[in-house]
Amino acid sequence: MMVCEFKPGLEGIPAAQSGISFVDGQKGLLEYRGIRIEELAEKSNFLETAYLLIWGELPTKEELTAFEEEVRYHRRIKYRIRDMMKSFPESGHPMDALQASAAALGLFYSRRDLHNPVYIRDAVVRLLATIPTMIAAFQLMRKGNDPVRPNDNLDYSANFLYMLTEEEPDPLAAKIFDVCLILHAEHTMNASTFSARVTASTLTDPYAVVASAVGTLGGPLHGGANEEVIQMLENIGSVENVRPYIEDCLQKKAKIMGFGHRVYKVKDPRATILQNLAEQLFAKFGQDKYYDIAQEMERVVAEKLGHKGIYPNVDFYSGLVYRKMEIPTDLFTPIFAIARVAGWLAHWKEQLAENRIFRPTQVYSGLHGMEYTPLNQR
Ligand code: ACO
Repeated sequence: MMVCEFKPGLEGIPAAQSGISFVDGQKGLLEYRGIRIEELAEKSNFLETAYLLIWGELPTKEELTAFEEEVRYHRRIKYRIRDMMKSFPESGHPMDALQASAAALGLFYSRRDLHNPVYIRDAVVRLLATIPTMIAAFQLMRKGNDPVRPNDNLDYSANFLYMLTEEEPDPLAAKIFDVCLILHAEHTMNASTFSARVTASTLTDPYAVVASAVGTLGGPLHGGANEEVIQMLENIGSVENVRPYIEDCLQKKAKIMGFGHRVYKVKDPRATILQNLAEQLFAKFGQDKYYDIAQEMERVVAEKLGHKGIYPNVDFYSGLVYRKMEIPTDLFTPIFAIARVAGWLAHWKEQLAENRIFRPTQVYSGLHGMEYTPLNQR
């Protein structure tokens, strides 16, 4: 067997052959199934993009309508899932609530018929349809309210905002939210997608695949960064404090949240689109002082760390958009999960098509030939 050099974080090691998305980190290019992210953000909607990612091509008008209808029909969650969620502690993180709820779906749909396209489609529809409902239900229940039922007159993103806030959202806000979902739907072999593929390779059910990926997305070096960006902007507090804050981080060798990316060495194209969306929101709903702080951060970080290829990533501006929509900070990562479930499911399906269980190797750095010391002699 060929022995490879150990690469921490598997940096640069291909873990799968995939036709789902493509990134060129030097050029700042991201494509889903060959279509540039800028074009999808402008012309598509989230469910159409999810269909593209999962089934490999854009749906016809009839296919899209049928898919949207199926998702709309399956938005309600079982009362037992809702009751289970009621017993979750309100102080718990919504990502943990989501991970537990996604895994619990597997209890209700335990049949594993992975070679049956009908089973695959049902699972895709159910996960896309119910994850937003579960997140919104947890949000209302932790405030002591009853969850609201999905509104069949609203499309995917507008309905989520409605279930979250109990009010029909402004159309511009709903449209911008939908674009945010498109931007977060897929991003090649990142940590949570790798986690999804490893779990998928054991031929377990898709609910376990998604639950495992949700758990991986939650960490601050991955999806959790957008929460930390807002906390950081709040701590900085003013434009004047930006430079000393960054200099302090550099001196302490601390990471500046929302900056840097394993792949992008220029500004993440999604950050550029999100910045533009944030500006549209501020134009309609009023300026935000944290945006001024963010812009100053971008300038100072480019000056200090641009030579290392450290620029804003997708999480830098997404938090500002969600904050303007008055979405609680700890829901930012669950919202990322609503979007990324499309990518995870695309990878689940691709993994199943040519499966080999993941079984990497390791470089052993421990001892050999040690003697067992009896308990009373230790
Ligand atoms: N702030 C300051 N310096 C940074 C940052 C940052 N955010 N990111 C990287 N660097 C520096 C490192 O200190 C290192 O410098 P050195 O070569 O002098 O030691 C160099 O750039 C390379 O950094 P690595 O940590 O090796 O880069 P890696 O590819 O492992 O990390 C990561 C990428 C985890 C995203 C990192 O940039 C980071 O922690 N960023 C902050 C957290 C964040 O925003 N995460 C969201 C990522 S996007 C997503 O998951 C959706």
